[in-house]
Amino acid sequence: MSLELPAEIFYGGDYNPEQWSREVWHEDMRLMREAGVNLVTLGVFSWTNLETSEGHYDFGWLDEIFDLLHENGIGVDLATATASPPAWLTKAHPELLPVNAAGTRLAHGGRQGYCVSSPIYKRKAAELASELVKRYGSHPALKMWHINNEYGCHNPLCFCEVSAENWRIWLKEKYETLDALNRAWGTNFWSQRYHQWDEINPPRQTPDGTFPNPTQMLDYRRFSSDQILDLYLAEKAAIRAVDTIHPITTNFMSMKHSMNIDYWRWASEVDFVATDHYLIAEDPENYIDLAFQADLTRGFASGKPWLLMEHSTSAVNWQERNLAKADGEMLCNSLTHVARGSNGSMFFQWRASVSGSEKYHSAMVPHAGEDSRIFRNVKQLGEELQKLTEIAAHPTEKAQVAMVFDYQSWWALAQRNLPTTSIDYPELAHDWYRALWKLGVRVDFVSPDASPLVLAQYRAVLMPMTYMLSEQQERKFAEYVSQGGSLVASYFTGISNLDDTVKLGGYGGALVRESLGVLVEEFAPVRQTERVLLSNGAFGTEWAEFAKATTAEVVATYQDGVSAGSAAIAKKERSWYIGTRLDEASLMSFFDDFSLELQLEKRGGNGVEVIRRGSYEFAIDHTQKTFVWSQIND
Ligand code: GAL
Repeated sequence: MSLELPAEIFYGGDYNPEQWSREVWHEDMRLMREAGVNLVTLGVFSWTNLETSEGHYDFGWLDEIFDLLHENGIGVDLATATASPPAWLTKAHPELLPVNAAGTRLAHGGRQGYCVSSPIYKRKAAELASELVKRYGSHPALKMWHINNEYGCHNPLCFCEVSAENWRIWLKEKYETLDALNRAWGTNFWSQRYHQWDEINPPRQTPDGTFPNPTQMLDYRRFSSDQILDLYLAEKAAIRAVDTIHPITTNFMSMKHSMNIDYWRWASEVDFVATDHYLIAEDPENYIDLAFQADLTRGFASGKPWLLMEHSTSAVNWQERNLAKADGEMLCNSLTHVARGSNGSMFFQWRASVSGSEKYHSAMVPHAGEDSRIFRNVKQLGEELQKLTEIAAHPTEKAQVAMVFDYQSWWALAQRNLPTTSIDYPELAHDWYRALWKLGVRVDFVSPDASPLVLAQYRAVLMPMTYMLSEQQERKFAEYVSQGGSLVASYFTGISNLDDTVKLGGYGGALVRESLGVLVEEFAPVRQTERVLLSNGAFGTEWAEFAKATTAEVVATYQDGVSAGSAAIAKKERSWYIGTRLDEASLMSFFDDFSLELQLEKRGGNGVEVIRRGSYEFAIDHTQKTFVWSQIND
């Protein structure tokens, strides 16, 4: 068995048999077979049922379930059960509970209640993983390992004393000297200079109306993402010490606002990329966010197949209004993921719970039972996926355009003292993606550290608000442009280096100044209720600038507002600079011209997406909630 994602199409979901009687287990097997389920994720939240007190393990029920699944031809994605520590552990070691920025230690009772720097949690989690691998590592039903669950979902940052100690160690490794740290953080401001390492604390809550040092905050996010990665690596090492044949992964979260983990950094540590995606129910075009997240996930996987580990058959139970999916919607969602590279469609969860916090979350087997709309859809999807098994070995067709997506810039843009609080990094990236999606232009995602070789495969690279760029990154993108690549950068791109120190001599540094030929002198944010008219008839919102084209040609100037007459959109050779947040119609017209000029391939549009994977072409009509797929020859 290889350490990659097997070339199969997986179908199933989180299975929580500990919530049910043995009689139900047998019914589950029958229904799983009927639905075509071939993989279930076991044990995500089972720690307390597997280790009932310190060192006392009860694997009896899991043994039984493993065998039952195997007899029924169903594979297991075994979770290490470490997503939520049991009450006996937090009672014995309350110091492993997380502390918030205000210094309050949070209570046991929800989930993911642990400090990401806790040595006790780390040791106990690795011990449990170790016990599980010894017991199930060679079970014939085992297909893959699923470490923890959605790391960083509820406890991304902890501000306790143990975290503070680890933080100082991390800082010493990064900066070596206090001088270097003081320089990077700009501590000669507001009397923040440090003279001893132990004066430095996590960026805890500061007096009202003030904010922690922005670079300190940025580093704390980097540190916390690294601490969480260490937890993952400790469990991974425990498994690898025994089982060298099954792939190991953890489920990422691909949701519009999940910003806590730098998945570009994590992607190389998983044997294959897996993710969870939930629709934003109130967004009538939520299938575009789905496409965005699936494409981003394929980016983490470097274009290779990945696995959708969770989504929902219908409503979730954690949004304001949990809308049910329309007929056909769940099938369209699943096939969009498959077309965009997922080797299957997995759900949270197999059977809807009758108690606990998620009892109103949809499942593959709903409360209504098998004679239901949902279960009929589930069976239909199972049949559809069985016809597509051959696709699993093939990647999704490469796009001609790549968008840079950068967690580091996102983190830096999360500070609250920016020129406008209207800044929302993922929103702008979504604006651009949405316009291209509607035009039928596909987009891949790349990290700001993508190699020149990777960039060279694309006709165009998009940089919506890539706020931080190191000199090296800046040079790489400049080289891409000088070699004939087409770059589209927005306002607030390339503003600071990786320490969040502003580059002088024109905002946007050398990339905007030289490669794009624009000198940005001053920002001129727009009132929330207003928009600015541009000379080409376009409208901008949120942001305007005092800028002039030096070596670029002006495509449009601001017609009104304080910066009237300044360059709003500029073009140099095949690259563009956009100095405002264009509204949807203006953005579509911009990208229409852009795709024409670059002669980009267009397929679909108007609510229909057309995607090719291997020899298959999928046409998914999100307005009608219907799909067709066919084999193509070219
Ligand atoms: C995910 C989580 C699942 C379940 C699901 C509900 O965040 O991994 O355990 O809670 O959401 O939508």
